[in-house]
Amino acid sequence: MENILVCVAWPYANGDLHVGHVAGAYLPADIFARYHRLKGNRVVMVSGSDAHGTPIVVRADKEGKTPREVFEYYHGRFLETQRLLGISYDLFTHTDTENHHAISRQMFRRLLENGYLFKATQKQLYSERQGKFLPDRLVEGTCPICGYDKARGDQCDSCGHLLDGTQLINPHSRAHPDDKLTIRESEHYFFNLPALREPILAYLADKDGYWRSTVLEFSRRYAEEMEPRAFTRDLTWGIPIPVEGAEGKCIYVWYEALLGYLSATIEWAQVSGQPDAWKEFWYRADGVRIYNFIGKDNILFHTVLWPAALIGMQRLGEPWDGLDRGADLKFNLPYDVPANQYLNLGGQKFSKSLGVSLDAIDLAQKYGADALRFYLTLIMPEARDSDWSWSDFAQRNNSELLAKWGNLIQRTLSQIWRNFEGRIPQPGELTEADQALIAKVEAGFDSVGEKLNAVRLRDALNEALDLATATNQYLDFEAPWKTIKTDKARAGTQLYVAARVVDSLTVLFAPFTPGLSERARAQLGYADPLFGEQYIETLHESTRSHDVLRYDARRARGRWAPSQLPPGQPLGGEPKGLVSKIELADEA
Ligand code: MF3
Ligand code: ZN
Repeated sequence: MENILVCVAWPYANGDLHVGHVAGAYLPADIFARYHRLKGNRVVMVSGSDAHGTPIVVRADKEGKTPREVFEYYHGRFLETQRLLGISYDLFTHTDTENHHAISRQMFRRLLENGYLFKATQKQLYSERQGKFLPDRLVEGTCPICGYDKARGDQCDSCGHLLDGTQLINPHSRAHPDDKLTIRESEHYFFNLPALREPILAYLADKDGYWRSTVLEFSRRYAEEMEPRAFTRDLTWGIPIPVEGAEGKCIYVWYEALLGYLSATIEWAQVSGQPDAWKEFWYRADGVRIYNFIGKDNILFHTVLWPAALIGMQRLGEPWDGLDRGADLKFNLPYDVPANQYLNLGGQKFSKSLGVSLDAIDLAQKYGADALRFYLTLIMPEARDSDWSWSDFAQRNNSELLAKWGNLIQRTLSQIWRNFEGRIPQPGELTEADQALIAKVEAGFDSVGEKLNAVRLRDALNEALDLATATNQYLDFEAPWKTIKTDKARAGTQLYVAARVVDSLTVLFAPFTPGLSERARAQLGYADPLFGEQYIETLHESTRSHDVLRYDARRARGRWAPSQLPPGQPLGGEPKGLVSKIELADEA
């Protein structure tokens, strides 16, 4: 058994989640986590709302609300959306908990004590009209590296490089392009990244072969050239740095959001009544893999800056919580960062402000989580950008999810219901064709599993679909509805074979379309579900409460194995179609 920590990008709580977010990070993470739970591994999947930083402040200003009101509203929406989609976080919390604040302050102190933070004056863009420093994210200009003319001060979305606002050519305020911007100085703490270059390059050195090459090459290039970067910001909505006389300065939102992977694992351990369990993921030396599921705009933060922060924090030869003084524990670094490219809409990037968006919560309500998850997996932007298309969505649902898989369940079980008193028939001797089909589908536990483990989720789903197709072909050829007229015993064997492989297929499809698999298994007559339950809960800290999404992992584990369907098992009632057709008229 392995320990698998599934870390998922923390969405800024400043707008609803769209299907691009879902296909980019949350769904792949969930499919991966569900697979490993079925495999019998110990999985913890964490994330939460990114509560702080400029994006929240900007939205609050626009709406005449406080940043807290904005973040609490969207945090609540995120819990609902992800529960509806079945994104099975062991804990989805947020970055404004007391726990997270305390651990963030600890990170700051650790890096400072270890000599990785230094004070320096930073040149920053200042808006004379507004009388304040402009956050890099609110500045736009030409990228000094690739020449893209809409680069943001923090990052260029065209070439992906991290920037400082003052590096931009012809910088201007995004909101008020005519504001006069001057350069002023402000004191900040800087993260001495060059001092960590060697361990970072060593960390990146053994990733060939299993990291996506785009991710690896990009990260190495950055690590080779990285310079110190500001670790603090002039902002009041965030986590104040624990230094006397540094009012108005917060930890740069990225660093504390990344630290959320650790603080959320610690919070998970506490709320699940095993306060030390987080160490089994962050300190245990063997049998642990940490995965970070993110979109491509987050790569360098996760492959370079976050490992650098983890290495920088541990240098005192002292474990994090200070309890086991003297032990030389090291933090585990991400094992893989399977960053996805973008899912676009009509060839354009998702952008609320430009009206290019599809809210995940609306689609999940209208079409159900499984239809959405199925299509988003088929078009997941694993290797290159992909595009949402309404007609493709309807077509793939109808011709694949419904025609290949939903109908297979229905045609198998309804014949058993009608002709065998609703019980799995007793098989006679199996023919070669029967055995071949069973062997083929059962081999799927290795072949689909390998692809899932390698985070090749599109391939994995297509492989499962191929096995459903093979089963349909078997039924078409064997035609038990004809056999039954002349040889009921043989028809019973054919339907037993079909039901047994359908049973296996419900497990093979379960990571992708868990709701459908649970319903199919109920129809097969199983009383126990494959997965645990998801629920929203209010947790109490000393001064505040917060809502989180949780998953009850104790209920089901280790079911990634061929069917053991017992002949004679009664079906769970009259089989009904489990997949709905999406009508063309439904399309936007
Ligand atoms: N909030 C950031 C975004 O939406 C992502 C943060 S991922 C984290 O782009 F791990 F750094 F939190
Ligand atoms: Zn650029």
